Amino acid sequence: MAEFMTGLKRSCYCGEPRLSDAGKTLTLCGWVQRQRDLGQLIFIDLRDRSGIMQLAFDEDTDREVFKKAFSCRSEFCLAATGVVRERTSKNAELPTGDVELAVKDLRIFSKSETPPFAIEENSNVTKETRLRYRYLDLRRPDMQHILMARHRITKCAHDYFDDNGFLEIETPDLIKSTPEGARDYLVPSRIFNGKFFALPQSPQLYKQLLMMSGFDRYMQVARCFRDEDLRADRQPEFTQIDFEMSFVNQEDVMAIGEGFIKKTYKEVCGIDIPTPLRRMKWQEAMDRFGSDKPDLRFGMELQDVSDCVRNTGFKVFSGALAEGGSVRGINLKGKANDLSRKEIDKLGDWVKSYGAKGLAWTRLAEKETSSYEKFLTPEEAQAIRAALGAEPGDVLFLVASDDNTVVYASLGALRCELGRRFNLIDKSNPCLLWVTDFPMFEYSKEEGRWMAMHHPFTMPNPEDLDKLESDPGSVRSIAYDMVINGYEAGGGSLRIHDSALQERMLEALGFKPEDAQRRFGFLLNALKYGAPPHGGMAWGLERLVMVLLGIDDMRDTVAFPKVSSSADLMSNAPDIVDEKQLEELGIGVTKAE
Ligand code: AMO
Repeated sequence: MAEFMTGLKRSCYCGEPRLSDAGKTLTLCGWVQRQRDLGQLIFIDLRDRSGIMQLAFDEDTDREVFKKAFSCRSEFCLAATGVVRERTSKNAELPTGDVELAVKDLRIFSKSETPPFAIEENSNVTKETRLRYRYLDLRRPDMQHILMARHRITKCAHDYFDDNGFLEIETPDLIKSTPEGARDYLVPSRIFNGKFFALPQSPQLYKQLLMMSGFDRYMQVARCFRDEDLRADRQPEFTQIDFEMSFVNQEDVMAIGEGFIKKTYKEVCGIDIPTPLRRMKWQEAMDRFGSDKPDLRFGMELQDVSDCVRNTGFKVFSGALAEGGSVRGINLKGKANDLSRKEIDKLGDWVKSYGAKGLAWTRLAEKETSSYEKFLTPEEAQAIRAALGAEPGDVLFLVASDDNTVVYASLGALRCELGRRFNLIDKSNPCLLWVTDFPMFEYSKEEGRWMAMHHPFTMPNPEDLDKLESDPGSVRSIAYDMVINGYEAGGGSLRIHDSALQERMLEALGFKPEDAQRRFGFLLNALKYGAPPHGGMAWGLERLVMVLLGIDDMRDTVAFPKVSSSADLMSNAPDIVDEKQLEELGIGVTKAE
C-alpha cells in the first residue's frame, strides 16, 4: 500500500491563500470544519492551526472526488489539491475569504466520529468534557492561539537570554528531596529500595551550583513539580523561565528581568512597557493592599483604623489590639445600593476562609445600617468613617484580628473580589511592579517554627544580620517579586554565597547542623570553594501566559493540564501499577483509595 502522503506535498497552511494566489495550484491539509451540501455544489471549510480555507466542488469536479466530498463530515482529516480562484460571494470575516480552492483531487486520511463538542471558538461545553477530550479541545482556535503565544514567550526567553550571554544548561529532574516550601513529588528507587528521588520544585540549588562552577550566566526553561493544594493559578507541574547570574547586585538582576518582560510584552502583545518598573516595599504593599502581589489597577486601599478604636469597649476590636493585632478597613465607594444585606453576609462567611472571625460593615444607604457602630461611641464610629473617607452611598468593611496576617489576607482578598465583582479594574493597561524587601522569615503556626518566606538560600539584608537569631520576624531579605496585574509572575533573590552564613541561616530555620549537612551538605561544601556573589529569579511561564493574554484559568495555558485533584482526566493518571512494579521498588501499598 502506498503511503498516505505519496504524491502529496502540502503547499501552505489553510489560512494563507489570498487573491494574489488566484490561478495557483495548491495542496492543503487539515480537518473538516463543516461540509455544506447544496446539491450540485459542495463546500468544505478546511481548518488547520493557521485558519480556514473554503474548498469548492461543483459540476466541473471529477465525479469520484465529488463523491468523496459528499461523504466528508466534521473533523475528517484530509488533503485537497486544486486551483485557487476568486469567490463569487466573499466572506469578509475570514482572511482567506476572497478565495476558494476549486478541488481537483481529495484524499481522506482519516474519518472521524462525531466529536463530543463543536471544534470552534467559545464552544459551549463543560471544562470537564474539554479536558477528557483534550486532543480535540486543542484543535479549537482559541486554544491553538494560546499555545502559540506560549511558544512565542518561550522563544523570547531563549532569544533574550542568549543575546545577553546566558547559557541554557539543563539541571536534573531526579534529585534529592529537600523539602522546604511545597511538598515534593517522590520517585522510588529500584536499585536502592526504600530510597527516593524527588522531582525538583525548581532548579534552585543546581543553578546556584552552576554559578560556583563558573558559568556566570545561566538560564533554563525548566519543568518544576510541587505537590501542593491546587488553585486557579497553580499546577502541580509547571514551567519556569529561570535565570541566575554571578557578580551582581539586586539592581543588575532586576535590570535583566525587566529587559525580558519588556521584550516579551512587545513581541507577544505589541505593548510598550515603560522601564524601570515601579517598586514597592513589601510592608507598603501589605499596608495599602493587604497583599504582597498588589493589583494596582484599582484603588480601594486598606486603612488602618486601629487608632480610632484604641480605647474602645467593643471587645472584638479591643481584644485584637490588645494582642498586638490591628483593625483595618476598606471603603467600597458608592455601591451601598448594589450590595444586599444577604450578599454582605455571604462575604462575611467568605472572609472566614482567610482566617478572619468575621466581617464588620457599615452600609451608608438612605437608611444607614451597621454591624458594629452600635457597640462604639459616636466619636469612635465617626473616626472610622473619617479614616475611610466615608460618604453617603459607601459600604465600609472592617476586619479585626490579633494576627495581622489574617487582617491583610482577608481584606486584601475582599478588595480584589469586590474590584472584580464591581468592574473596578482598569484593564486597558497592564500594571507591573517589583515588590521588594520581603521579610526573610514567616512564622508557621502549623510547623511551630520560622520558615523562609522565599527560600533558605536567600541573602538576608546585611543591616539585619544581627537579628537573625534574636528577632527573626524583623529580618528583611534581598528578595523581589515581579507582580503583574495582581499575580506573582516571578520572583527571585540574591543568594547567600558564604558557607558559614548559609549554615547559620539553616540553623535559624531549625535545622540541626547534622540535619543541615545530611540534606544540604553538597551545597554547604560547594560554598567553601570560592563561591561568587550571585542572584537570579524565575517566572512562572503559565502565569506569564495568563497575564499576557488575560486568561483566568491556568489550565488553559497548558496543553495537557491537571485538575484540582492533580489528576489528568484524559489519561486517568495517577493510576495503580502492576504488583511486579511495586515489588521491584520494594513498595507495599497500605492504604489504597
Ligand atoms: P518561586 O517559588 O517564587 O521561586 O517560583 C517562581 C515562580 O514560579 C511560578 N509558580 C507556579 N506556577 C504554576 N504553578 C505553581 N504551582 C507555581 N509555583 C510557582 C510563579 C512564581 O513566581 N527558585 C525560585 C526562584 C528564584 O529564587 O530564582 C522559585 O522557584 O510565577
